[in-house]
Amino acid sequence: MPIDNIVAIGCDHAGLEFKTLIRDQLIRLGFQYLDAGVPEGTERVDYPIVAAEVSQLLQNKAATYGVLICGTGIGMSMAANRFKGIRAANCLNEAMARFARAHNDANILTLGQRLMGPDLALSVLEVFLSTPFEGGRHQGRLSLFN
Ligand code: RB5
Repeated sequence: MPIDNIVAIGCDHAGLEFKTLIRDQLIRLGFQYLDAGVPEGTERVDYPIVAAEVSQLLQNKAATYGVLICGTGIGMSMAANRFKGIRAANCLNEAMARFARAHNDANILTLGQRLMGPDLALSVLEVFLSTPFEGGRHQGRLSLFN
């Protein structure tokens, strides 16, 4: 299985419902997933711990893409972006997901379960995973910081 097909997923307690939906959707779309937690029933987990686990799976080339869910997606994106080579984008709609991939070559999508409905989250996921990076002038810009 090429690693382009492997997506690492993780959430804190505020993102557990979406993680389950996203896991099922990944299977439907033909992706494999690596689940960095948290398990169902977990009362609380600090999102930087899960963000680190998913980021390290990408750094170690165990997965190409990641999806991290918390209440807003903000904390997860902040934490993941501390890791070299990680470009995490918090996307609230399909346009953000499209540009995050096409212009920024984002490799982690972060979502906020408290800010959007499940249908929108799945739609954002599909756009994120199906949009190629455009390269060219955008690659030059990425090279300036990553
Ligand atoms: C947890 O209550 C919440 O703060 C967290 O899920 C996330 O939204 C942080 O950015």
